[in-house]
Amino acid sequence: MAMEGLKLFLVVLSAAVSVGVVSIIFVLRWVLYYKEGLGWDGGLPEFNWHPVLMVIGFVFLQGIAIIVYRLPWTWKCSKLMMKFIHAGLNLLAFIFAVISLVAVFDFHNAAKIPNMYSLHSWLGLVAVILYCLQLVLGVGMFLIPVTPASRRALFMPLHVYSGLLLFTSVIAVALMGITEKLIFGLSDPKYKDSPPEAIFVNVLGVLLVVFGALILWIATRPSWKRPIDQILNTPHTNGGGEDNAKVGQSLSQLSGTEADTCSDFRKRNNKSDDQTN
Ligand code: HEM
Ligand code: HEM
Repeated sequence: MAMEGLKLFLVVLSAAVSVGVVSIIFVLRWVLYYKEGLGWDGGLPEFNWHPVLMVIGFVFLQGIAIIVYRLPWTWKCSKLMMKFIHAGLNLLAFIFAVISLVAVFDFHNAAKIPNMYSLHSWLGLVAVILYCLQLVLGVGMFLIPVTPASRRALFMPLHVYSGLLLFTSVIAVALMGITEKLIFGLSDPKYKDSPPEAIFVNVLGVLLVVFGALILWIATRPSWKRPIDQILNTPHTNGGGEDNAKVGQSLSQLSGTEADTCSDFRKRNNKSDDQTN
């Protein structure tokens, strides 16, 4: 990544992380200040864990998990270590989503509200199930060294496509949930009268869309891809030397303890797993 590309990358990354953190602050302020707070009692405080954990886990952590391979200061790390970080963050996001579902089902059952009647709940549950499948297939294909390299390479475009589709769908599902909750929850004044809570939570929805847009931008820039993969995926006749020089240049711009630690890790785990994705 040339210096200009690196600067732009850092600007977009900082914007994404800031918008993500502000979204988390907004959802916490919503439930703690405007709503009933948090608790595990079968009542509304238990329901409130649902939006909180979905925004922190299923939206924010998943977004970060998707772009970890793109962080230039991790390019010195072994691909195996990055796979563990990517898979670990996705697993954490999944655990948050499951606890969040337990909270909402528990609340519905205690209050004798029917389950799974809304479009939000249908698409939400499908997203969680497919996310679990993506996790299991990801571990089976890329982490456990049983799948042949050719099959991994064939599966990769599908993995990337379904990962981005899931991330986008989860944001859409969150927006539906937010709207539903505002319509159910605001009675005097109503949603249509634009009370401060409605405006505040509408802004949360906008923030989630902006976070999604920034993450998708980072994850779809070919020039921001981990360069070692570009080299290994580039036919040797096609200027591999030039790419090598670019990698050296980008990495030399990034010094510091993290890069050194990764470099040591890489030496200790000197396997060429980059070649098989
Ligand atoms: C209910 C999934 C985010 C509000 C549900 C249910 C599921 C689900 C499966 C059904 C529970 C049941 O029937 O007992 C998801 C997913 C989300 C998400 C995957 C990922 C982002 C949100 C957010 C809010 C929200 C951010 C905002 C408050 C609600 C409400 C219900 C609900 C009000 C109860 C009404 C209904 O079943 O539609 N959610 N949710 N959800 N969710 Fe979400
Ligand atoms: C790449 C999503 C689980 C291994 C990607 C990308 C996305 C994604 C969107 C493209 C990133 C980019 O182009 O920079 C997901 C989601 C998962 C998941 C949503 C969980 C539900 C896993 C697991 C593994 C894995 C468990 C196992 C190690 C990989 C690898 C890449 C990748 C090796 C290629 C990175 C590269 O291009 O250098 N994933 N993933 N993923 N994922 Fe996953």
